[in-house]
Amino acid sequence: MSVVQAGSPDKNLTRDWQDRDHQHYLHPFTDHKDLGKKGTRIITDADGVYIRDSEGNEILDGMAGLWCVNLGYGRQELVDAATRQMQQLPYYNSFFQTAHPPAIELSTVLGEISPANFNHVFFTGSGSEANDTVLKLVRRYWDLQDEGQRTVIISRKNAYHGSTIAAGSLGGMGEMHKQTGAYLVPGIEHIEQPYYFELGGDLSEQEFGLQQAQLLEQRILQVGAENVAAFIGEPVQGAGGVIIPPDSYWPEIQRICKHYGILLIADEVITGFGRLGEWFGSTRLGIEADLMSFAKGVTSGYLPLGGVMVSDRVTAVVTDKGGEFAHGYTYSGHPACCAVALENIRILRDEGIIERVRDDTGPYFNQRWAGLAEHPLVGEARSIGLVGAIEIVADKTSRERFPKDTGAGSVCRDFCFANGLVMRPVGDTMIVSPPLVMEHSHIDELVEKAWRSLDLTAKAIGGA
Ligand SMILES: Cc1ncc(COP(=O)(O)O)c(C=O)c1O
Repeated sequence: MSVVQAGSPDKNLTRDWQDRDHQHYLHPFTDHKDLGKKGTRIITDADGVYIRDSEGNEILDGMAGLWCVNLGYGRQELVDAATRQMQQLPYYNSFFQTAHPPAIELSTVLGEISPANFNHVFFTGSGSEANDTVLKLVRRYWDLQDEGQRTVIISRKNAYHGSTIAAGSLGGMGEMHKQTGAYLVPGIEHIEQPYYFELGGDLSEQEFGLQQAQLLEQRILQVGAENVAAFIGEPVQGAGGVIIPPDSYWPEIQRICKHYGILLIADEVITGFGRLGEWFGSTRLGIEADLMSFAKGVTSGYLPLGGVMVSDRVTAVVTDKGGEFAHGYTYSGHPACCAVALENIRILRDEGIIERVRDDTGPYFNQRWAGLAEHPLVGEARSIGLVGAIEIVADKTSRERFPKDTGAGSVCRDFCFANGLVMRPVGDTMIVSPPLVMEHSHIDELVEKAWRSLDLTAKAIGGA
């Protein structure tokens, strides 16, 4: 076994890691055979808003890891919080009528920063587990209301709610559904998404938003309102391609949920903890949810933690009428993860980072990002808070895409990496979700590198 050393630009060492990676490590959402041919990029260390690979390249992290490293890398306070907690109490569970201070304190703080109707939390280890928990809570809620026939949950095509069987079923990713096949959770319906660029046609943005929201009402009436338990949606669809709904969308969804008395679930796994310039995306978009799932940014990704904020409406039923809720994870409320989350939230608060995203870096990013729409390859550049997308097109006017086998998005992603920027392709949509601590100069660098990578992509694929 070779001795591994972070940050070493030794090519032999890189090759050795790549070989062993291919021999032993099955990556999430990856074509193993294909990756084996190309060779994995090995990330060895990181600082601030930059990651570094084993060949010594410094890369601006436009994706905050995987939408999670909101405070950026190298925050010693988070390391110290984890260390202190691991020394004092590295693990204990909450199953045995026991609890520990970090979980209790974090529950309290989460109640403070959430909208007023949220005062309870159920902890999980990830966003997928959070959405599995949501599904069980919803079913339990209606059972206890003597409306057990309300089992249908309405979601959206191209939604991402995680990759366990329940979370994958809640999501609307076609490829995942194909591979899960007969094991998909029954009773989950998917309506079309509010993706204006792709589906808006000749409608105005606001007309389109209203029309897409009303698909919810149509589906409720199709399946029978008495059978519908809940609607679930990401305030802004992330993994589906940063789909920002028109302003008319969420108020209409809200109206419909209220009208039929169904629960509204906001999946805040990406939009929680400052991404849109508020603690939760729901606040920014005026969504009054009954359940909010979260993960990722709660710890800035330093340790894994997720959970569900449970509204007073749902808590009252599930706790007062329900007795034992037969659900939980070994790592629900893990003390070290909770300690890191507490410190993460303290820093977000004390340094005014979310206010800065709302009032300063967010608007600056939105303005600079919008400039990418001038590029000949870009059909649209959209953003909200510190999350954005650009649509690569062959023809700006008709919005015609490149042929699928061109792989325009992947070509662009490779040029981005080569130019020192992580930008992620979703088909031919390029997306970013950078650390919330980005300064103006980092935003300038991100946009300039994106522009250069688009130029190189255009040359390589024969675009405008
Ligand atoms: C909106 C949303 N929900 C849920 C998840 C699943 O979270 P995890 O990967 O922690 O299970 C993700 C992950 O990207 C997500 O973006």
